[in-house]
Amino acid sequence: MLRLAALALLVTWTPGACVDVGDPWYVERPLVVVPDGPISWTDHVQQILHDHTCDACHSGADPSGGMDLTTADGFVAGGDSGPAVVPCDSGHSLVTSYLEECFMPPDETPGGQRCLDAAELEIVRRWIDEGAEAVYDAATCPAPSR
Ligand code: HEC
Repeated sequence: MLRLAALALLVTWTPGACVDVGDPWYVERPLVVVPDGPISWTDHVQQILHDHTCDACHSGADPSGGMDLTTADGFVAGGDSGPAVVPCDSGHSLVTSYLEECFMPPDETPGGQRCLDAAELEIVRRWIDEGAEAVYDAATCPAPSR
């Protein structure tokens, strides 16, 4: 009985506000390769954010930093610090520095912190530079501001 209770506790326990999002990053996956064509949220970016457990903390009723990373709109809208993404301009997007400096995912990520590798970073940056599937697309993006 006691063992059952301990098991139930183990199964239901989640750290902080984070939710269970299925396979953690350390489940074997093929290395991510930067595709030639346009980058899409559904085919590329969402999987990368999931592989790095971003959606574990940035989802649900009370997402970390007030930002929901389960949808492209949530990603672009950002959270407490304002927009995380400036469509067409990865150089001025808050999330770029967070990812390049591996401030996100943070040390305390459930299952362990794994920083984005160069290919994954490039995919996220390109998605932003191609308009982040927001107001613009690759053809209508204005030149990035300096
Ligand atoms: C272990 C939980 C956790 C994980 C995993 C995590 N974050 Fe965060 N994130 C936070 C917390 C807490 C904050 C708010 C505190 C802060 O900004 O330092 C935050 C803030 C942010 C912000 C700033 C939001 C704002 O407006 O203040 C961005 C952007 C962000 N995270 C992106 C990501 C991305 C992208 C990933 C995956 C690569 C990720 N995070 C993974 C917990 C997490």
